[in-house]
Amino acid sequence: MIDKIKAHIEEVKKFSASKIEEVEAFKNKFLSKKNGVLTGFFTEFKNIPAEQKKDLGQVLNTLKLSVENKITELKGKIEENSDKNIDIDLSLPGENISLGSLHPITVVRREILDIFERIGFVTIETPEIDDDWHNFTALNFPPEHPARDMQDTFFVEKNQSAVIRTHTSNGQIRYMENHKPPLKVVIPGRTYRNEDISARSHFMFHQIEALFVDENVSFIDLKQTLLYFAKEFFGHKTKVRFRPSYFPFTEPSAEVDVTCSICGGEGCNVCKYTGWLEILGSGMVDPNVLENLGIDSKKYSGYAFGLGIERITMLRYGVKDIRYFFENDVRFLSQFENI
Ligand code: DAH
Repeated sequence: MIDKIKAHIEEVKKFSASKIEEVEAFKNKFLSKKNGVLTGFFTEFKNIPAEQKKDLGQVLNTLKLSVENKITELKGKIEENSDKNIDIDLSLPGENISLGSLHPITVVRREILDIFERIGFVTIETPEIDDDWHNFTALNFPPEHPARDMQDTFFVEKNQSAVIRTHTSNGQIRYMENHKPPLKVVIPGRTYRNEDISARSHFMFHQIEALFVDENVSFIDLKQTLLYFAKEFFGHKTKVRFRPSYFPFTEPSAEVDVTCSICGGEGCNVCKYTGWLEILGSGMVDPNVLENLGIDSKKYSGYAFGLGIERITMLRYGVKDIRYFFENDVRFLSQFENI
């Protein structure tokens, strides 16, 4: 019996097949439960004397294993070859591979920074978690100012010593701490306020801050810079309008409107039929702020402004709800693939 089994082992070794049917027949011959070669041997195995069982068992197992391995090996080869032989129709249109694209906020942020870099502003980044001094006090916020209220500010420390910044204006202080005038920077970043989420506001949004400090900087420089920006970004026919306002860190302060980019100033529902859209807050840096940083306010003056990127993106593309920017819905995002 042992010789017979060994002969089969040799047979298995030499066996090869190119069709799946041949492999199936081979499998049947050896492994069929009814009349397979192995089933036959295992039945005989029960009747042989105990002292021969050990050797015979080993050889029998070798045969079983080599049959099983052979089947796996041949099936693998045949499958591999069949993949290669598939007819390919080169004239069929290719599969549509959709490419990722930049988020609209990123696109607009880059565009705005680029506009200011062209006139000499340098882009810098400053911390999102900051202390009361940089976010409020050095910016001339009186101690009782409502913006420090729990309503608006996310405090990181229970004792209110650290905040997630409520605006990028903390960047002005960070920069003036380590640099002497002339200063000319733009500071993009994320900002946070403890506000309810709605179509018009979110607890997280993006701003770009600008700061220019030098000798003899006047309000005219601020106006001219913002007019340049408005024309570059919204189109050369755009006009700007300054409305008196209040910010603790600027004096005088102004909110800036541009002619509505949707209706060109005629009046529509986006500009609430006024023809104007508010785009940013600005002003001349309050001398107190310069002095807080050890900059001589008799010698130097400056302007600053801060704009919300979401707001500007909404105005430009007619996006009606700020929440779209944060939901990551591909149907929304893919509309900005080609901008
Ligand atoms: N920090 C202000 C805000 O978040 C925006 C702002 C207004 C920034 C006037 C400025 C500025 O630099 O001069 O509402």
